[in-house]
Amino acid sequence: MKQFLIDKYNRKINYIRVSVTDRCDLKCIYCIPTDSERHSTRRALLRFEEIVRIIRCFANMGVRHVRITGGEPLVRKGIVSLIEQISHIDGIDDLAMTTNATLLSKYARDLKDAGLKRVNISLDTLKPEKFKLISRGGNLEDVLKGINAIIDAGLNPVNLNSVVIKGLNDSELLDLVNFSIKNNTNIRFIECMPVGHIGSLSRERFISAKEIKSLIEKYFTLEPAPSFGGGPASYFHIKGEKIKVGFISPITQHFCESCNRVRLTAEGILRLCLGQNAEIDLRDYIRSGIGDETLQEIIAKAVQNKPQSHQFSIEEGIPIEKPMSMIGG
Ligand code: 5AD
Repeated sequence: MKQFLIDKYNRKINYIRVSVTDRCDLKCIYCIPTDSERHSTRRALLRFEEIVRIIRCFANMGVRHVRITGGEPLVRKGIVSLIEQISHIDGIDDLAMTTNATLLSKYARDLKDAGLKRVNISLDTLKPEKFKLISRGGNLEDVLKGINAIIDAGLNPVNLNSVVIKGLNDSELLDLVNFSIKNNTNIRFIECMPVGHIGSLSRERFISAKEIKSLIEKYFTLEPAPSFGGGPASYFHIKGEKIKVGFISPITQHFCESCNRVRLTAEGILRLCLGQNAEIDLRDYIRSGIGDETLQEIIAKAVQNKPQSHQFSIEEGIPIEKPMSMIGG
């Protein structure tokens, strides 16, 4: 009989986020620590056949959605071929990627041909100088070209992700929404999470999803929209426009009861909850030569023990040791 992935709180896991590298060509202040030259060695990274094997095992147990993340996934050599291999796995019917878009103008068409269905693109500002500051040296022009390329390639809907930080980009919410309307993309605003070493940044400059929403409602009428994409955002139609605005509130409003996902890090560690340090090393198991059936049993047992909820909090809570770039953004 087919074994599904159901945890002890009766949540069905149908979504895996797979990080393919902890490297990134940007160094966004909320994501990657300054001393992040300590990257995984090539041997430590899962090889493509190992990634494909693990996803196939998840698919055998009912997982339908895969999202490729990093670091920046497009800096991993051969990424298009990996996408193609994953797109052929039986049962996977939604294959998406989260990217900073700097390399998308080069890869958009190939990714589409390889079977990628959707992308989420990080975009926190439309001001080149500010982009340079947030990403510690990046070039906004590359990102804008990437966004155009993916729209031209016809990968719809494109979702933009903005992490909102007080005094940094909270004055640009209207511009970001207008940019999305113009380009016919959806946009999601995300509360900054205290992961890795950014505790004080997220504490002192925190803006809640509710505050972000009220700022936007000064300019637009928002009407509740059905959720889509299997993620935790709550969506709203902008009255009179085609696009949706989403709000992701990991801090002020947990969505753990409906959590449907696990994460695989670039080194093959299965992370059961973004906001809990609980992990299990699948790479060790597969490199020790176990078969698929045993691997599936190990995964099912690990998923059983998925933590009930994360404990993000602005004041206290359990510190999340790894930065987002290592867990998978
Ligand atoms: N808080 C919230 N979201 C984050 N991301 C990375 N770091 C953080 C953080 N500290 C998310 C953003 C970004 C993606 C790569 O990871 O959505 O777009």
